[in-house]
Amino acid sequence: MTAKIIDGKLIAAQERDELSQKIAADESEDMPVLAVVLVGNNDASRIYVRNKKKAAAEVGIGCEVLEFAESIGENALLEVIDELNDNPHINGIIVQLPLPSHINSLRVLSKIRPDKDVDGFNPYNAGLLACREPEAIVSATPRGILKLLETTGIKLVGKHVVIIGRSNIVGRPVAMLLLNQDCTVSITHSKTENLPEIVYQADIVVAACGQPKLVKKDWIKDGAVVIDVGINRVDGKLCGDVDFDDVLEKASFVTPVPGGVGPMTVAMLLKNTYEAFQKQRLNGNVHKCSCGKNGCHCEHR
Ligand code: GUN
Repeated sequence: MTAKIIDGKLIAAQERDELSQKIAADESEDMPVLAVVLVGNNDASRIYVRNKKKAAAEVGIGCEVLEFAESIGENALLEVIDELNDNPHINGIIVQLPLPSHINSLRVLSKIRPDKDVDGFNPYNAGLLACREPEAIVSATPRGILKLLETTGIKLVGKHVVIIGRSNIVGRPVAMLLLNQDCTVSITHSKTENLPEIVYQADIVVAACGQPKLVKKDWIKDGAVVIDVGINRVDGKLCGDVDFDDVLEKASFVTPVPGGVGPMTVAMLLKNTYEAFQKQRLNGNVHKCSCGKNGCHCEHR
């Protein structure tokens, strides 16, 4: 078998086109606006943020990048988030990860108003997803992966998905999302014993472990679908967590790196931002807290 290549670049372009048409047809005088908080000088983060900003402009979403020195304190960053939460012109807020080690990322992500949390990293949204609540904002990479799987035409119900990696950004949310699609989900990680044998049981493999070309053809059952979330640079060249050339002869479908999951993450972030904008417009962009006070600063958010 020679695998079909899932063209994430093309599918993401179609998603962005669709979004761009919706935004152009939207009669609102306001434009959706995404705020991106970038801390420090991580080269990869800078490239990702530049790509997000460019893609946002192309579909008609405003994007404000707020840059801060590596030395910014956690409290100062929390204040920045609070200001963005309260700014009615901002519809989506993301904090580019990783943050410097002196900052507690979870505390910062928890501060983002759930209805502006377009990365879906606030534990509130992660919790809604885990509870199968359709109102959850689902983080962009898992949402993009689901879209890629849907384009293959394979039926997801009952399929065994093996996820390699248990991160808050990919492994955990993609597990919840695919569980909600009635897949049978196994999450594996760096301490998992007999990893190749477990992966061999998969109908769908999602590799998100940050280990260049870890997944080899003899780990893959004939006809399995392989989704590669990895972005690694080896000898100046990008590669994923899957040995792409190797698995081509075993898989039915495989995503390339670059041009697979990466472009979908950006497209889905923009989609989340537009959907957040629409919802906020319906709700008057006023955070309604469970304490009953609009725009409150309490801990109920
Ligand atoms: N760092 C790596 N991936 C992501 C992502 O999807 N969103 C954010 N905010 N940071 C990241």
